[in-house]
Amino acid sequence: MATINLRQVEKKFGSSYAVKPLDLTIKDGEFVTLLGPSGCGKTTTLRMISGLEAVTSGQILFDGQEVTWNHPSQRNIAFVFQFFALYGHLTVRENIAFPLQAEGASRDEIKRRVLEVAQMLRIEHMLDKRPGSLSGGDQQRVALARALVRRPAAFLMDEPLGALDAEFREGMRAEIKRLHISQNATTVYVTHDQVEAMAMSDRIVVMSNAEVQQADTPTEIYHNPANLFTANFIGSPGMNLIAGEYRDGQVQVPGGAIPVDDGWRQVLANGLDGDGKVIVGFRPEAAEVQPTGALAGSVYASDLHGGYSMLHVEIAPAQIIHARVERRVSFAIGDNLRLGIQPDMVRFFHPRTEKAFAKEERRS
Ligand SMILES: Nc1ncnc2c1ncn2[C@@H]1O[C@H](COP(=O)(O)OP(=O)(O)O)[C@@H](O)[C@H]1O
Ligand SMILES: [Mg+2]
Repeated sequence: MATINLRQVEKKFGSSYAVKPLDLTIKDGEFVTLLGPSGCGKTTTLRMISGLEAVTSGQILFDGQEVTWNHPSQRNIAFVFQFFALYGHLTVRENIAFPLQAEGASRDEIKRRVLEVAQMLRIEHMLDKRPGSLSGGDQQRVALARALVRRPAAFLMDEPLGALDAEFREGMRAEIKRLHISQNATTVYVTHDQVEAMAMSDRIVVMSNAEVQQADTPTEIYHNPANLFTANFIGSPGMNLIAGEYRDGQVQVPGGAIPVDDGWRQVLANGLDGDGKVIVGFRPEAAEVQPTGALAGSVYASDLHGGYSMLHVEIAPAQIIHARVERRVSFAIGDNLRLGIQPDMVRFFHPRTEKAFAKEERRS
């Protein structure tokens, strides 16, 4: 398995950037996901790592060796795409064996390795079928098996579950994660689906507009987004973001005032512009309906999610925030209520730079 280093890797098509200079190290055995909206440069980044796309500038290293200009076949990587291009006229067994045959492996070795990988993915009983007779999930399992059988140094996967039904996607997500854990294979995974990214990754690289917004663990990305883009993009719905003004130890916002605890006061006093303008952020689960809560509003809508309800609360005309509340609590549209916000879950962003403030103790 391999460590992958990207050093100032960039890609331009004509004069426009598909990927702006990118620095990223993917550790040996790490599962890193490139996450972002369509067109942000995920596929291009993955294709540069694989060698299918030439870099405009920068360097790519595998285990410290430069591979920037190596042909894909010299990089010992396996690529899994969204559309599993299996050979319809071959059996599952022949499909999986294909890359080993291309490498000239012996018959015995092929037999052994195909069986080994088929057992791991629980597709032994399908080995003599043709791909056309299998479900989408099973076809993607076969595609994974074919990638895995080569024992590559790294796996590159571009939205491999994108074409599957929700039902198969959940199962395959678990499958890929188990595979990763058992093989400890360095994996770079591309998706626009944050749920998938949160569920599977050791680290998530959030991208937007050809640029990395944040690279961190799922927990950090969720709880400590580096900027407004990440705060809003991660979570469904994203973080509540309210523009306000910091004065006298509180942030005045439509609907009330959010108390600022001691740890933040100096940070805000130092970091904000003279006008005190700030954006306050908190996740829907940080808000609770409380008679004496800091924010007043009225119920705009309420969605039942089975295990919980999502309240849409209007705190000013056309300004809606979300609160995740217990499923038994029921509200009618137009009900007035107050929301208390858990102080340790409040975050602050600079409205001009759109960057998050960090509490002093987190800056290490
Ligand atoms: N071969 C190409 N020629 C010109 N522009 C391209 C090409 N491939 C990708 N792009 C552009 O580069 C940007 C990033 O594309 P891509 O990496 O495919 O995004 P993502 O995978 O995140 O959806 C997009 O604006 C896309 O239109
Ligand atoms: Mg793509």
